[in-house]
Amino acid sequence: MRPKAVVFDLYGTLLAIDAMRAHVAAAGIGAADAFVADWRRKQLEYAFLSSLGGAYRDFDDLTALALEFTCAQRGERLGVIRRAELVDAWRTMDAYPDVAPALGALAARGIPLAVLTNGTPVSANAALERAGVRALLAGVLSVEAVRAYKPDPRVYALATTRFACAPFEIVFVSSNGWDAWGAAHFGFRVAWCNRASNAPETLVPAPATMLAGLHELPAFVGD
Ligand code: LAC
Repeated sequence: MRPKAVVFDLYGTLLAIDAMRAHVAAAGIGAADAFVADWRRKQLEYAFLSSLGGAYRDFDDLTALALEFTCAQRGERLGVIRRAELVDAWRTMDAYPDVAPALGALAARGIPLAVLTNGTPVSANAALERAGVRALLAGVLSVEAVRAYKPDPRVYALATTRFACAPFEIVFVSSNGWDAWGAAHFGFRVAWCNRASNAPETLVPAPATMLAGLHELPAFVGD
């Protein structure tokens, strides 16, 4: 079935969070891989907490707070300016190499494409412009509109409202297992892009498919 739209998660799915390792290393932080993984985990934990607690703060704020925590936890001393530069670097991540070809192939079929992200509209649009893929997207939907984070169903409903369709008419693509779960629970047809070769989540519902990369997406979506 031809979807009404294909909707993508942003960070880690279209944009390569791994790129943050070079920025972190350049700031003089050791074990940059582990640092970035801890920072990302804390950023998401703060998103879950603020959403569940009904105490929304935007994703740029949470990214900064998570960085401050991660520095303290790992005994890294970074000044305020250095920390602000690292938070800004979230706007300069490259897209994965498979992104432009996959989005281009789907756009050429006339299927509307969008991003649905925890990120702020300003940061998400800036990053997508810089990565050179913003022009392929019909829209960038941000949680800011509902002031709650994924996997709150109100977030996924932003996409069904935008495309005036039922959840099963949307293909949703995420590399985050928890986001794939939230989207499947909402009723989207989910393609889990398993970039990190993780084990499948055991919490059902499972995604409709698992992709090794976005190069496999056009075949899953079909014509
Ligand atoms: C996003 C995060 C969750 O873009 O990756 O929504």
